Amino acid sequence: MKAVLDYLKANEARFVQDLCEYVRFPSVSAQADHRADLQACAEWMAARCRSLGLETRLCPTEGHPVLLARTPRRPGRRHFVVYGHYDVQPPEPFDLWKSPPFEPRLAGGALYARGASDNKGQHLAHLNAVEAYLKTDTDLPCDLTFLIEGEEEVGSRSLSGFLKSHRPELRCDAVVVSDTGMPASGLPALTYALRGITALEIKLTGPDRDLHSGIFGGSVDNPAMALSQLLARARDARGRITIPGFYDDVRPLSAFERRQLARLPYQERAYARFLGVRRLFGEKGYTVWEQRTARPTFEINGLTSGYQGEGSKTIVPSWASAKITIRLVPDQRPDRVLRQVQRWLRAVCPPTVRLEMKAGHGAEAYFMEPTRPEAQAGLRALEAAFARKPVLLREGGSIPIVTEFRSILGADTLLLGLALPDDNAHSPNEKFDLANYAAGMRVGAHLWRELAALPA
Ligand code: BES
Ligand code: ZN
Repeated sequence: MKAVLDYLKANEARFVQDLCEYVRFPSVSAQADHRADLQACAEWMAARCRSLGLETRLCPTEGHPVLLARTPRRPGRRHFVVYGHYDVQPPEPFDLWKSPPFEPRLAGGALYARGASDNKGQHLAHLNAVEAYLKTDTDLPCDLTFLIEGEEEVGSRSLSGFLKSHRPELRCDAVVVSDTGMPASGLPALTYALRGITALEIKLTGPDRDLHSGIFGGSVDNPAMALSQLLARARDARGRITIPGFYDDVRPLSAFERRQLARLPYQERAYARFLGVRRLFGEKGYTVWEQRTARPTFEINGLTSGYQGEGSKTIVPSWASAKITIRLVPDQRPDRVLRQVQRWLRAVCPPTVRLEMKAGHGAEAYFMEPTRPEAQAGLRALEAAFARKPVLLREGGSIPIVTEFRSILGADTLLLGLALPDDNAHSPNEKFDLANYAAGMRVGAHLWRELAALPA
């Protein structure tokens, strides 16, 4: 183990350079213009895996390619899959970035770039740990397959079919994912639950063109107003979602979990300041950690209507639209909730506008018993790497494929996150803390021994 850790330390600067190269690819999966950039990014990663001696394939899908890279096999050993994603969220708005999103900048012990933390740096750390094993001729005690996809940020549409068609070679004892967070710097965490999601776009259309609001306003409904009124009805003043049946399947928090969540660091004033809000808002009766991680939400992600250019324009806009995502918790089902929402929208939409709805991606929430032996092994690896006792965490984000690792591959997922709350994931000025990058490599170094040593 010492040789592995020494190798990681000795090569730290070069690993940072590698990550700088990796984040230069604008691999934005939501935008069709970037198709070639996703391909080039996947090829870069494939070349990196091949250079370490991994048996590597870049598999085309209907969407973006999936990368598979396998360590040399030896029969009779445990097999683990390491999952990550090379696609990133759109970098807009550009003007809020202090340096261009795809030109890596090192400052204050962090690397700034879109994708640095979510998720390129986090899975590259695992690859670097494997490099250290291979290059120091240290016995890697289990077989590993890296599975790196390019559609996570748009719902992992191609990956479930891919898992089904590659089931025999992906069958494994567990999946390891570093694509979540830590509650604070230096405080490692094992995440045992994630929220699910269901996405929907709605459009209300009124007049068949924009109209002069002075000449016609007052005699026709305004679609932007209708949409605002409609959406405003989805949530009450106590932060409860009012859609009938919405909470039917929500699994209540156990007393144990509430105690665990209450132990996490939290200061209301500092938190509000960090988010730049004057006051917090959330569902009454729940703490902020509970609101963020264990309660469902209904969020408007984008709202569009009418004139957005310079100055004013007096119109009744022809249409208004909204992009919506609903975060789900165990045991809510994305399709059922989506149907409830669609039924409710149809029922409350006024007859003065035409309603169109387009369903998007969906994923169930994830929950893993933290008492499982694999989780305990993960906790030991975190403690060794960070020299601090890790905490157990639920998180509010979603990784759509993890429930399918269970249903298709029969494997649980260990979530060992390396992102900090101020890493600005999905926001301008995303960064990855270089100390966490190094710690993530050490997690990888310890983890395979811990997992391989578990009793059969
Ligand atoms: N890395 C995140 C997920 C995450 C972040 C989990 C923080 C827990 C804590 C992932 O890349 C992500 O952003 N997922 C999307 C999925 C969606 C587009 C289907 C999300 O949660 O919005
Ligand atoms: Zn993300």
